[in-house]
Amino acid sequence: MQIQLWREILEPYALAIEEIQVKFNHMISAYRRAGEYSPIEQVAGRVKTISSILEKAQKKGISMDDIETQIEDIAGVRIICQFVEDIYRVVELIKLRHDMRVVLEKDYISNQKDSGYRSYHMIVRYQVETVKGQKEIPVEIQIRTLAMNFWATVEHSLQYKYKEHMPERLRERLHNSAEAIVMLDQEMSSVRDEIMDAQNSFQVKANIISDILNNIQNLYKLANKREVVKIQDEFFRIYNTEDLEQLKRFGRELDKIAEGYQAQSL
Ligand code: GTP
Ligand code: MG
Repeated sequence: MQIQLWREILEPYALAIEEIQVKFNHMISAYRRAGEYSPIEQVAGRVKTISSILEKAQKKGISMDDIETQIEDIAGVRIICQFVEDIYRVVELIKLRHDMRVVLEKDYISNQKDSGYRSYHMIVRYQVETVKGQKEIPVEIQIRTLAMNFWATVEHSLQYKYKEHMPERLRERLHNSAEAIVMLDQEMSSVRDEIMDAQNSFQVKANIISDILNNIQNLYKLANKREVVKIQDEFFRIYNTEDLEQLKRFGRELDKIAEGYQAQSL
């Protein structure tokens, strides 16, 4: 097949990846804006390169005509979570969506691969609108923790380097480190509530401060300058006490003042 044709074939896959990333990133910021913990930490996506598509087709004996139906990871999205529990929350969130239809699930966390690999895989079907009409694209979503991702990234590079000839000693070390990753994930889970609390109050504080600064900035345009300077001084004083409750109260009072000036939506 000509390279130009390949580009055309891959176009809707790239669109699907872009859209899905926007949606998951939006989810992260929506949680954070609401001062809530986001089960998703990061999202990444990629379209398989033409050369790895060809390599995979050759290895699996897939003919050129069947590539689109037989290779389900041309479009790939990776969702990184902080904790194992978050992975299962994300799985449920994906199942509830109406824009992705789950067609296959593989739980390599409960069923760790022989290599030591752990992740939750889903194949979903996702519809895109292209200039040539609608097209349903299979997308492979890999959901894993930061720790699982670290292991998989390192192991993948070594696999790539050695192909089928990975030295036994190295294989063993990778197995051992996979076990260490399981332990790390378990340890992290045991302090999950505490970590989530800490991150939440950080986010809540950041949101309150951002609202306060926004209000002060808007009041500068509308209210008496001397009054605003007084408000600003009061803000700095409360900010320095590091008392979140006082800061919340101040934020609410400032909201009322800004409301009076109709300054909130500026
Ligand atoms: P593929 O031919 O790779 O698609 O195998 P499959 O159809 O059986 O799918 P599977 O769910 O096993 O793997 C799909 C993807 O998961 C791979 O393309 C990798 O990105 C990742 N993966 C699977 N096994 C391993 C592993 O042992 N190590 C690493 N680093 N990644 C893996
Ligand atoms: Mg696969």
